[in-house]
Amino acid sequence: EEVSPIQTLPSEILLRMMSYLSPRDLCRCAQVCRSWSDLARDGHLWQVMHPARWAQGDWRFGFLPDEDPDDLPVYGAMGGEEEQDLYVVVDEDADFDESAESDNSESSNLSYTAACIQREAKMLTSLVRNLLPHVNRSVQSLVLRGSRGLTNGLVYKLIVSCPNLEYLDLSHTNVSDVAFKGLGKRGAGRKLRHLDLSGCVNITDLTLVRLSNGLGRLASGSPSVSRSADNKKRKEASKYICCDFSNAEGNMCCIDTDYESSNPTLAPCHTGCSQSSTQFEDIECCQGFSERTCDFEYRAPYQRTCCGTEQRSSSPPNNDIASSRTCCMSQEENRPFQADKNAREKSQRKNKKDNDCANNDNVGERTNNCSPNNGDVDKDYDEAEEVTRGLAYLGLSGCYQITDEGLGALASHGGLPQLTHLDLSGCLNITADGLAALADNCLSLDHEQFFYCDNITDGPFSDTASGCQNLQCSSRVCCRSGE
Ligand code: FES
Repeated sequence: EEVSPIQTLPSEILLRMMSYLSPRDLCRCAQVCRSWSDLARDGHLWQVMHPARWAQGDWRFGFLPDEDPDDLPVYGAMGGEEEQDLYVVVDEDADFDESAESDNSESSNLSYTAACIQREAKMLTSLVRNLLPHVNRSVQSLVLRGSRGLTNGLVYKLIVSCPNLEYLDLSHTNVSDVAFKGLGKRGAGRKLRHLDLSGCVNITDLTLVRLSNGLGRLASGSPSVSRSADNKKRKEASKYICCDFSNAEGNMCCIDTDYESSNPTLAPCHTGCSQSSTQFEDIECCQGFSERTCDFEYRAPYQRTCCGTEQRSSSPPNNDIASSRTCCMSQEENRPFQADKNAREKSQRKNKKDNDCANNDNVGERTNNCSPNNGDVDKDYDEAEEVTRGLAYLGLSGCYQITDEGLGALASHGGLPQLTHLDLSGCLNITADGLAALADNCLSLDHEQFFYCDNITDGPFSDTASGCQNLQCSSRVCCRSGE
């Protein structure tokens, strides 16, 4: 039997070649033979998905280098003629229902739009049924901006079957609270870093409650909380080194490295410390551990973890006054560290079990043992997955049904310590108090990327925060639209 030269290529080369293909071409390759089918469904090829764009005939993969995600076309919330015009960009080879065309242009346009929506829904359904079961764990970004064929059921399945999802854009779609019912199931949503729900007018506080639950609960004193809490201090006091002690107000107590090298006992404390410099010699490093806010990176010169249970370096710098102190945690025979190790091993076992479940999970055809509705699985995930609440971008512009209650839900469970961008433009039912409660728990928030209604004059960072973004926007709610 004659062998084609391409069949002699090693799979690594074929995989590299396939990485340059569009999703449509990959699907065609998958129909050639079994080995190509396996290669075309390699998870690395499907990390970023734009199904709504693909359904419009734009088969590009991922974000283009010069493309800002915010510049993606918005057509879902416009309606009327603008929406009809945007649908004209679909693939000319698309399989339209020609029988629907008639002399009546209005009727023709409606049929055309319906066909586009139908095709998009068909593609999404096919993607969930046929592709995701093979690549679900590799999917990191899902852009469905302005999708008209999207349903709550599809969003539910997408969220539940992609546990490593970091980027989710559902802006200008008709999704409502029920779509997010899957957040938290089998760790779904825990790794989200970017969530855009701008223009989703059906969203209420319930979605924010589910989002907050899905992100998990931060343990008090966790590194993530510490990292955010010390973010500003780190910038201001980069020359200070943590002295392993926090004062009554929870401020980190630091010594100036310049002074330390010359005379440690005279080293002045950093601003806000209640301890005088002469008391340093008597301080035990883990005193007040439960309330301490140091983090490992900040204490890098000492090469130790925050709780002192993992001694990574036996040679701290000379003249390091911390080196002479005892550590109350270390005297406990590294018990906490051992407990962490046991937890890690347990989590690895649970992850393996869950991976097996996911591999068998065909979204629509779950086995009884691996059902996402199994309460034990959810509980296992809570124990196994590291909780960081790492959401950095949250777009809720135009979600006017949101109230302070929803903001309070986001502020709970440890807040959103890594959130830098928060858009609440057009959220007409929130107040300054609700905003302040949330802002207090978003310590990394960039004021220039913090948007809320201009009519809330006494809101947090009123001098530095950006105002409402919807003043000139016709597609999202704004209390001043039309002025
Ligand atoms: Fe009040 Fe836009 S929502 S100014």
